[in-house]
Amino acid sequence: MTSEFDALLGDVGVERFLREYWQRKPLLIRQAIPGYSSPIEPNELAGLSLEEEVESRIVLKDGEHPWQLRRGPFADEDYQQLPEKDWTLLVQAVDQFVPEVADLLQRFRFLPTWRLDDVMISYATPGGGVGPHFDNYDVFLLQAEGQRRWRIGQHCSSESPLQDNPDLRILRDFDCQDEWVLEPGDMLYIPPGVAHDGVAETDCLTFSIGFRAPSYQEVLVHFTDYLAHQLNDDARYSDAGLKQPQDPAAIDPEAVDRLQQSLLALVQDKEALATWFGRHMTETRYPELMQSYIDEDADLRAGLSEGQALLHNPSVRLAYRVAANDQIQVFASGEHCAVPSRLLALVQLICNQAYLAPQSLEQWHQDDEAMELLEQLLDKGYLLLERDDE
Ligand code: SIN
Ligand code: CO
Repeated sequence: MTSEFDALLGDVGVERFLREYWQRKPLLIRQAIPGYSSPIEPNELAGLSLEEEVESRIVLKDGEHPWQLRRGPFADEDYQQLPEKDWTLLVQAVDQFVPEVADLLQRFRFLPTWRLDDVMISYATPGGGVGPHFDNYDVFLLQAEGQRRWRIGQHCSSESPLQDNPDLRILRDFDCQDEWVLEPGDMLYIPPGVAHDGVAETDCLTFSIGFRAPSYQEVLVHFTDYLAHQLNDDARYSDAGLKQPQDPAAIDPEAVDRLQQSLLALVQDKEALATWFGRHMTETRYPELMQSYIDEDADLRAGLSEGQALLHNPSVRLAYRVAANDQIQVFASGEHCAVPSRLLALVQLICNQAYLAPQSLEQWHQDDEAMELLEQLLDKGYLLLERDDE
């Protein structure tokens, strides 16, 4: 089956990519986006790094110590003091600040959108990079400007020896298995745990499209916290029918069994797990940024009747699922609500379209629950009414 996304993956295509490469092995795609031209200039990226709400870092190969990390926000003077070469600037979540960068994500919709983390952009001077390392997430490295040499190494784990560096997790050993120079439009996919090292050959821009996967440590901590909040104080260890213990100081196997059975019953609640998961995977990285868009005066019905479209807040993360009771759970930036199943088409539209033309919503105008859902999303600032200047 061919898909509109195949071209991004060169000869490999989506089906084979998912079967053979995703989460398994690196893939180089020459001219994944032929003629790609970066929608952001290096000086604009540096401009973003001056902003308080933007997460940015500079890595110097030979700073006060090898691979020195500096954290933003930066000032103009910081840039004036940098050497000619051997440093890189990294700016996180540029997709939330530059709509043309967010547009790039449309090409990756062959993967679940809730797995997406963000688009990080790095600008590197010749010799610049972040050192040999591995990440715990899947990343597509799109070369947007200039040339960068990438070396791919061994599979790593939390046991892999690291250099003694106070700032960054730089690998002590690197067993180079492949090496390529990427040109603009080329893209390299790297699965979690695979060592990689990108060194700029010329001034260059690299876009990292990262996909997050929660660690089980994170799942256990947050899911059990979520579950615990659903329970009241009456739900507790119970040992009705207790047999007199041989030794009252001993915790006997029956006590542990009782505890385990109760816990298993709690975590086996699949609906609770799914609800927590939807909330967790849609949590937003910058809640403050989200808030800044809230328009107290936004009037949905008036806006739609005046022909205004609804847009996604650039920071919103949306997903949905059909629950066991047939209702639709709508997840938005770490929260959720349930709507009747007849709204499925609307929910799909809301989650998949960053731009909701007023005509596409016309059929829902008479449905109070549909309008209520849109109103809720608008009130929270997850959806925004298009302004006249957009
Ligand atoms: C970079 O763009 O310099 C770093 C990307 C990565 O290695 O994950
Ligand atoms: Co990396």
